[in-house]
Amino acid sequence: MAAKTTTPALTTTLSVGEVAARSGISVPTLHFYESKGLIKSHRNNGNQRRYDRSVLRLISIIKISQHLGMSLEQIKDHLSSLPQDHTPTATEWKRLTKKWNDDLEERIKLLQLLQSQLASCIGCGCMSLKECPLRNPEDRYGKKGTGAQRLREQCRI
Ligand code: FES
Repeated sequence: MAAKTTTPALTTTLSVGEVAARSGISVPTLHFYESKGLIKSHRNNGNQRRYDRSVLRLISIIKISQHLGMSLEQIKDHLSSLPQDHTPTATEWKRLTKKWNDDLEERIKLLQLLQSQLASCIGCGCMSLKECPLRNPEDRYGKKGTGAQRLREQCRI
């Protein structure tokens, strides 16, 4: 009679060390993300920190978003649209992607406008705090809100 081979049970949660090893980020960075509310863990019976496997996908999204120049606050805002009580479905991921894409389109428009303004500013050279949209675009329109308001108006976004 042949001996039965058994496959080890697939654990549904990961330790902080496992998440760090699989995601390629350090344990302190994981703790930082958690302190910022970007990822969540829970405690097992031994009071050890455990993460759901879906955290690996979240970490990938966080890292990609950071590479795209998004702030952690923006990333957190986007991730907050995901359900907290279950692993996101394909539809829920798609909805998140749409929102992300809209933000990226806005950023691209702003960068393109900055790029076009750059040539004339290099020729001008005044670097006026009042007039130059590259030098200090937020002061002049600061009362209208955060960000480059003049550029937003020019882009009509
Ligand atoms: S440098 Fe003069 S407007 Fe920008």
